[in-house]
Amino acid sequence: MKANLLKEYQLRVCCIGAGYVGGPTMVVIANHCPDILVNVVDIDQRKIDGWNCKDFKNLPVYEKGLESLLRKTRNKNLFFSNNVSEQISKADLIFICVNTPTKKNGVGAGKASDLKWIELCARQIAKYAKTHTIVVEKSTVPVKTAEVIEKILNQELINSNKTFSVLSNPEFLAEGSAIKDLENPQRVLIGGKDKKSLDLLSSIYSRWVEPKKIITTNLWSSELSKLTANAFLAQKISSINSITSLCEKTGAEINEVANAIGTDPRIGKEFLSAGPGFGGSCFKKDILNLSYLCEYYGLKEVADYWYGVLKINIWQQKRISNLIIDKLNGTVSDKKIAILGFSFKADTNDTRESPAIDICLNLLEEGANLAIHDPKVETHQIKKEFNERNYNESSKWIYSSNINEVINQSYAVILITEWAIYKQLKWKELVKTMIKPAWIFDTRMVINEVELIDANINYWRIGNKINSSSSNII
Ligand code: UDX
Ligand code: UDX
Repeated sequence: MKANLLKEYQLRVCCIGAGYVGGPTMVVIANHCPDILVNVVDIDQRKIDGWNCKDFKNLPVYEKGLESLLRKTRNKNLFFSNNVSEQISKADLIFICVNTPTKKNGVGAGKASDLKWIELCARQIAKYAKTHTIVVEKSTVPVKTAEVIEKILNQELINSNKTFSVLSNPEFLAEGSAIKDLENPQRVLIGGKDKKSLDLLSSIYSRWVEPKKIITTNLWSSELSKLTANAFLAQKISSINSITSLCEKTGAEINEVANAIGTDPRIGKEFLSAGPGFGGSCFKKDILNLSYLCEYYGLKEVADYWYGVLKINIWQQKRISNLIIDKLNGTVSDKKIAILGFSFKADTNDTRESPAIDICLNLLEEGANLAIHDPKVETHQIKKEFNERNYNESSKWIYSSNINEVINQSYAVILITEWAIYKQLKWKELVKTMIKPAWIFDTRMVINEVELIDANINYWRIGNKINSSSSNII
């Protein structure tokens, strides 16, 4: 600990990266540890301005419970700035929370993680740190990344009084429940070799996490556990999604199957909700990364096994788009289609890898006119996602925050994200404004079927073969 700062704070923490992981994690640490000074830095000035916004209305991350914790800590023991070098030089412990996207070019393009930001952070830490500094890798990284960080840091050891200790402390929070997950984690995983540093980081978490939930391992186990955890979770979703198509053909119901198998604790009931496929910044990237690592180590069969999880996910989205086109008499050209939900899941404003992107683009390619609603996502974000997939046409889609307007005069409604407000829609009234024969495609099984009886609507629900004879629900 830097001696001159001990009077004020027990410890000075710096976090590089004020994104979905860095921001909420530091808010929770600052709240539980008023004696620790937490400085969050980011190269993106807009993000920092967002975290510092006066009225708390433009925070870069939307998470339940975040605002109230931020109100208690911001500008007390929690600060956001772009003074990267200064805050590194003052820190005892630095969390690296930068993004690690899939590489776009060069060796491993499309599969391996791009570690350029991690490297950049390590170089900045090597340059600006003053004395002993603990460097905590929180970003999800391939196994052995800590070795790269150590090598870069060790360059600076010669002829200086700097020393470094590297720890791995992957984050398991899920977006939408970040604060709950951070407040009450199932486990905190810390990997490292240096006992003193391991103990120090454990002591921060132990302010609010039961000691038995704090697991310590070697560096490589910790790094690999994060990739493996995400791969297992994604595998569970692909497994249940693969069964949806069989249900639709046979008359079995996916929810009944999920309930029946989930009662076996070896399978577990969590993460068995069928849907349009997993999205988010992690699952796809981490599976690609895991299968790339397996290939790198000559384990082709293992690589193929994990890649299969992603293949099912891509297939599920394509299958849904094709089925919509098929039900709309083989053409959606110039038909208005309403899209309900664009974020990758409910309760977040994050659209990264959202299944809505590919489903929308498949329909746009077929000439559909889309009207998109989402309670937390706005036009510029949707545009960014489309542009990143090389779709730049802006006259074929609109965003509206008014659900009635989105549905009015549409041929079909596609529910893609399970936002709570969509569960309360009054379909009898809404359907009256649609073009007949009207369709509802429910990819998340959230629409209340009772609401649809007598609504004069054709209805498709994922993982169900709905019989048309008993009602006008097809
Ligand atoms: C995190 C993890 O760190 C990533 O490895 C994991 O797989 C997903 O979750 P996340 O917080 O979601 O990433 O990323 P993002 O919201 O993009 O935030 C990263 C931030 O780091 C951005 O605000 C970016 O501006 C910042 N950054 C990036 C820096 O401040 N410095 C850099 O050198 C690079
Ligand atoms: C995930 C992991 O859950 C978390 O532990 C890790 O730290 C980061 O990656 P996140 O991506 O935020 O978190 O959300 P998650 O709740 O896991 O959902 C991912 C995707 O899977 C979403 O698109 C969601 O809709 C989908 N999903 C999830 C399903 O389709 N069915 C399910 O049963 C669960």
